Amino acid sequence: MTVRAWWHDGVVYQIYVRSFADTDGDGIGDLQGVIDHLDHLEWLGVDGIWLSPIHPSPNRDWGYDVADYLDVHPELGDLATLDRLVAEAGARGIRILLDLIPNHTSDRHAWFVDARSSREAAHRDWYVWADPRADGSPPNNWLSVFGGPAWELDPGTRQFYLHNFLTEQPDLNWWSREVHDAFDDVMRFWFDRGVAGFRIDVANGLVKDAELRDNPPPTKDDPPEVRRRGQRFVHNMNRTEVHDVYRRWRTLADASGRVLVGETWLFDPDLLATYYGIDLDELHLCFNFSFMFADLRSDTLRAIVEATEAALPAGAQPAWTGSNHDVGRFASRWCASDPARIRCSLMTLLTLRGTPFLYYGDEIGMAEVPIEGEDVRDEPGLIGEAQVVRDPGRTPMQWAAKPGAGFTGADVRPWLPIGDPALANVADQRSDPDSHLHLCRDLIALRRETPDLRFGDYASLPSPAGVWTWRRGQGVVVAVNLSGAASTVHVGQGTIAIGTDRGRDGERVDGDLGLGPWDGAVVRQGV
Ligand code: GLC
Repeated sequence: MTVRAWWHDGVVYQIYVRSFADTDGDGIGDLQGVIDHLDHLEWLGVDGIWLSPIHPSPNRDWGYDVADYLDVHPELGDLATLDRLVAEAGARGIRILLDLIPNHTSDRHAWFVDARSSREAAHRDWYVWADPRADGSPPNNWLSVFGGPAWELDPGTRQFYLHNFLTEQPDLNWWSREVHDAFDDVMRFWFDRGVAGFRIDVANGLVKDAELRDNPPPTKDDPPEVRRRGQRFVHNMNRTEVHDVYRRWRTLADASGRVLVGETWLFDPDLLATYYGIDLDELHLCFNFSFMFADLRSDTLRAIVEATEAALPAGAQPAWTGSNHDVGRFASRWCASDPARIRCSLMTLLTLRGTPFLYYGDEIGMAEVPIEGEDVRDEPGLIGEAQVVRDPGRTPMQWAAKPGAGFTGADVRPWLPIGDPALANVADQRSDPDSHLHLCRDLIALRRETPDLRFGDYASLPSPAGVWTWRRGQGVVVAVNLSGAASTVHVGQGTIAIGTDRGRDGERVDGDLGLGPWDGAVVRQGV
């Protein structure tokens, strides 16, 4: 029998630290800002926080280009502040997860500086190097996720190095034993400091084909973006050998009860399932990008959840996310800022079987903020055609309807423009029991006090078109009407525990539940 860990039943909250709260007036959020808002997170009821990268970085890709895995970026704080955050969050029952970026480093990392210094350098083999082809062109046809060739010639040593992302993000060589050992040390360093686990960046990308074979062309069944790109990424990432890495890390993590969450950018549920390990001996949780990118439609979402549930090995748990720093915010993508859709989305995220990951601002239905021209900070978003600028989903948290939005001082220029806090902010919603914030908090509390919602099985129930209805465990039914037409669904006898229309909380249901357009309810059966 699986022993349940905190993350089985808990809710995780992603903080993009630069945009959460600025305490030193430089327009950049910092770790002290996270400490200062632990009250909010405790009140909301989250169990864990995933911090986006906090390490020293030249910020070509905002922390996803790490220059030192064992320190904190001075703009965000220092190790002592991180230790305090871990302790103060821990005192409130909240765990801290860090972002681990093992696929690549910054080109400023000491390992790469050494690696490119000569072909004989101690760290040469820590990266992926190859000779040019006879005509001087790159070693093979691999393309970068951010556009253009994935190879850059190092003029000093006259070999190409691999970069699946920016030129300034050289890929590590996971065929090197020393790289494995180095990352074991990185993980132990943070575990010793009390970090509860890691979100693993580019989890399906670490290992590359040992023979550096060309990627094959797309087939007619491939998704449009793969056909546009002109190749299938089967040799520069997505290698099955990566599973050896996770089996090793799982042993390390389980030895001290830590959790590993994979950024598994995969759309085939069967492939996603392999990252949990057939014997549940790999990643504890894997992000579900099919769900994130789906439309807010009952048939689409239900099909994804059913397929995921069917594919995962017994005992594995899905992770459900609507927003993050790459895909943007669900309030915009799914809901076009429509309050009723936002409420249905929150209800769905927080009542499916699995671990919900909220992104800072989700709890107030914060929308994306248009960012253009000289305000753009996301450099990868500007190059190539594969990417879009990701800044709109990374703007500062809206704490209060005042200049600076409670994120920073009224006279400080924030690193990214702040949206209109009058549209959504924590302070106003805190005093309004009908707000998204209260709905979110009450759904989290309901999860916590209802075993069926914490760990009951998921089962789809028959529903009219536009409505998605499911049972959790023995006695809870959730119905969300993801359509603009009123509908009725049979849920049996029961009581509405929480409705997206809070006026219906406590309402008796006598068999049929009527739902207005974009309306949802969690029903306790039999009571
Ligand atoms: C992951 C991160 C993304 C970053 C990329 C390259 O996908 O989530 O923000 O740009 O890795 O490091």
